[in-house]
Amino acid sequence: MSEVSAPRAPVALGILLSGRGSNFMAIAEAIRAGRLQGCTIAVVLSNVADAPGLLAAQELGLSTVTLVSKGTPRAEHDRNMVEALRRHGVDLVVLAGYMRVLTAEFLRAFPDRVLNIHPSLLPAFPGLHAQRQALEYGAAVAGCTVHFVDEAVDHGVIVLQRTVPVEPMDTEETLADRILNVEHLAYPEAIARVLSGGYAVRGRRYLPAEPLAS
Ligand code: GRF
Repeated sequence: MSEVSAPRAPVALGILLSGRGSNFMAIAEAIRAGRLQGCTIAVVLSNVADAPGLLAAQELGLSTVTLVSKGTPRAEHDRNMVEALRRHGVDLVVLAGYMRVLTAEFLRAFPDRVLNIHPSLLPAFPGLHAQRQALEYGAAVAGCTVHFVDEAVDHGVIVLQRTVPVEPMDTEETLADRILNVEHLAYPEAIARVLSGGYAVRGRRYLPAEPLAS
């Protein structure tokens, strides 16, 4: 990826989640409050039938799709997801606590159009239990990262990071809560940044685009 060409407004988001869905709710609230202009949630898709986030989406009257991944070969499951996202006209895929690694085929279907949020300052502490990893390592600063998704886990180009302090009395739960609060601000802000189109990617760096020559 060398240039970020933003999807054109109106932009249809496809949210993928597996659980609680608090980041999805923060994005939905940002749209409702007019902080993500030109953006709609076209569909909320879950691989877990009783994910609380899916129920929350139904209560908001959003289109939802359940595609249970357990027992389905990964390639077939991801093909089904691509088909559902295309059917809903999705321009930008937003992973919001989606707990499976996407196949290369899925990523090819949405090139430079898949975002994820991770509860650490990448490249530190990728993978599961990032907050526990930060505590065990003795990090003094923690935070979250919104990044484009590529084929490696928690690896793609970083759009935005936000930090929080690690306090001496922190447990995994208190640190996770503090990080989650900034996640809820960071994700809508990162989506707005991507949709603004005013950025380019050089190497791994997501930078303001050169101003147009006058
Ligand atoms: C968040 O901590 C996010 O960073 C990670 O999974 C968690 C999802 O939480 N990828 P929620 O379902 O959005 O509440």
